[in-house]
Amino acid sequence: MHSKVSIIGSGFVGTMAAQRTVEKNLADVVLYDIVEDLPQGKALDISQSASIEKFDGRVTGTNLLSDIEGSDIVVFTAGFPRTPGMTREELALKNAGIIKTVTEKIGDYAPDAIIIMVTNPLDVMTHLAWRVCGFPPSRVMGMGGILDTARYKYFLSRELDVSVKDIETMVLGSHGESMVPVDSYTTLKGIPVSNYIQKERLDEIIERTKKGGAEIVNLLKKGSAWHAPSASVTAMIEAIINDSKRLFPVSTYLSGEYGINGTHIGVPVLLGASGVEKIFEITLSPEELAALRESADIMKKTFEGLTIL
Ligand code: LAC
Repeated sequence: MHSKVSIIGSGFVGTMAAQRTVEKNLADVVLYDIVEDLPQGKALDISQSASIEKFDGRVTGTNLLSDIEGSDIVVFTAGFPRTPGMTREELALKNAGIIKTVTEKIGDYAPDAIIIMVTNPLDVMTHLAWRVCGFPPSRVMGMGGILDTARYKYFLSRELDVSVKDIETMVLGSHGESMVPVDSYTTLKGIPVSNYIQKERLDEIIERTKKGGAEIVNLLKKGSAWHAPSASVTAMIEAIINDSKRLFPVSTYLSGEYGINGTHIGVPVLLGASGVEKIFEITLSPEELAALRESADIMKKTFEGLTIL
């Protein structure tokens, strides 16, 4: 039997994640949206590429949330996107209502699912979804770190004029302005990139990474990024469906790790069939640890400001 992935929200990120998921033969996909006919149209369009792309998985569109029944994974992309000048945090209130209404019902239809949140502000929405659905922390996570890391790797590879495959790094913390690139783990095939890039230049690249999403919002004028975000979600789906035990930075619930308690924030985790199977507490410099804790504090405060529960 095929695995089943349901995607809440049939915008660009959701649709592209559906396409990537079936093209990789990972699962059948249900695309859900409240807009009538939209998910059906997109699902049919993707399905008609099956003979060319050679996949057997089914993609179906629906306006009925009950069609997510029995899902192994539920990906949540629904919500308003950012507009130019808007921070992810400013989105919080707009999107919290949508998250609450839907996640309240996920347990009724897909009680064993793993939830991957994509809706911004990512870490706050992930925490909200976890609080509302009542699933164990290992089964509710947010996609932010993989995307931020991918952007950082890309910029570093262009700076050094090397293959992006030889860059290793991790971006922790929130998927927002307070994200924390970790210098100590940023290497070209194990060689610290600080051997090749001056501190001032590295700071500029880090700044560009932090504003990576906003740069695209400003270029597109309407809507935000979807190609790299959907690739990032699909990497998580793949790790879970294939139980491949990948080490990824993922927004997860911390209960004491890194001295952080009671919030979701991006840290390295082991991703497998059970979801977040292990949280890695890696050695950070005092500055990095302080930045991670500050990032967590900002998320906590934004969540407390929601007053939706
Ligand atoms: C971005 C949005 C998806 O970073 O958060 O592009």
